[in-house]
Amino acid sequence: MFLSSANSSSIDFDQNSPQRISLGKRFVTARPFIKWAGGKRRLLEQYAPFLPTPTQFNHYFEPFLGGGAVFFHLHPIRAVLADLNADLINCYRVVRDYPEQLIEVLSKHKTSEQYFYRVRELTPDNLTAIERASRFIYLNKTCYNGLYRVNKQGQFNVPYGRYKKPLICDAEVIRVASESLKNIQLSVSSFEKTVEQARARDFIYLDPPYVPLSQTASFTSYTSVNFTEHDQAKLAQIVRQLDQRGCLVMVSNSDTKLVRMLYQGFNILTVHCARSINSNPFARGTVTELLIRNY
Ligand SMILES: C[S@@+](CC[C@H](N)C(=O)[O-])C[C@H]1O[C@@H](n2cnc3c(N)ncnc32)[C@H](O)[C@@H]1O
Repeated sequence: MFLSSANSSSIDFDQNSPQRISLGKRFVTARPFIKWAGGKRRLLEQYAPFLPTPTQFNHYFEPFLGGGAVFFHLHPIRAVLADLNADLINCYRVVRDYPEQLIEVLSKHKTSEQYFYRVRELTPDNLTAIERASRFIYLNKTCYNGLYRVNKQGQFNVPYGRYKKPLICDAEVIRVASESLKNIQLSVSSFEKTVEQARARDFIYLDPPYVPLSQTASFTSYTSVNFTEHDQAKLAQIVRQLDQRGCLVMVSNSDTKLVRMLYQGFNILTVHCARSINSNPFARGTVTELLIRNY
């Protein structure tokens, strides 16, 4: 078990820098092509010293993919990426397989409130995979704060964001993300199912919907099903099983009593995070979050 037997000397924790990908004659850093609530882009600098490099593990697993900031930072060659949000995973598949067609469709969108609501009204199931991905990215870039929230019927219900000039189609970001995703496995799946395939020396990064800091603090629903305290406990139990299997495991979550209790015995670090998405403006500011590891 890594928790008791591994020491930091078994892994070289260098300040690994983001992986650069060749795009024609230039080298570009891959990064998320969508905004995502709870996205880890701004925490990468704090995470970097604690991430193993891709040569130190076999497969990379990210079962709560969202915007995929850690995946793009690491740029592993063998990876399993998953999320319960089917629209999101469709978008990743289209970025991976049809970047040029997506860029073409995405460039045709307009920015007006009326147009936004017309696109929001469309039923994803009636669209082609490329149209569906284009709708997803368009809504993400133009809705309020880039939030993703659906009602009980699974219909996207975030209002218009009133940005003056939103960048809807960033062709370079899509092209470089597409390169990073080549040969990467993507699935619509719950976290329990995703990690069933993980083996010793695989690295699993888990970034679940956070335990709320208060009863009213939950600002997003990601999918039509909420992530409950029971799910948090099940996740912690699975993390212990992965540890026993010999996997390297890292988890992000909020700095709460419950999280500290669920992960007792692991290496727990606090990281500082500027919180911008909070419906209560008085609750904006810096909060601490936890980074939990078995290595
Ligand atoms: C905190 S976000 C991940 C953010 C991501 N690390 C990033 O950098 O953008 C949590 C993600 O978990 C997904 N999710 C929620 N419940 C899930 C479940 N039971 N199984 C798998 N994914 C789930 C949500 O759709 C959401 O994308």
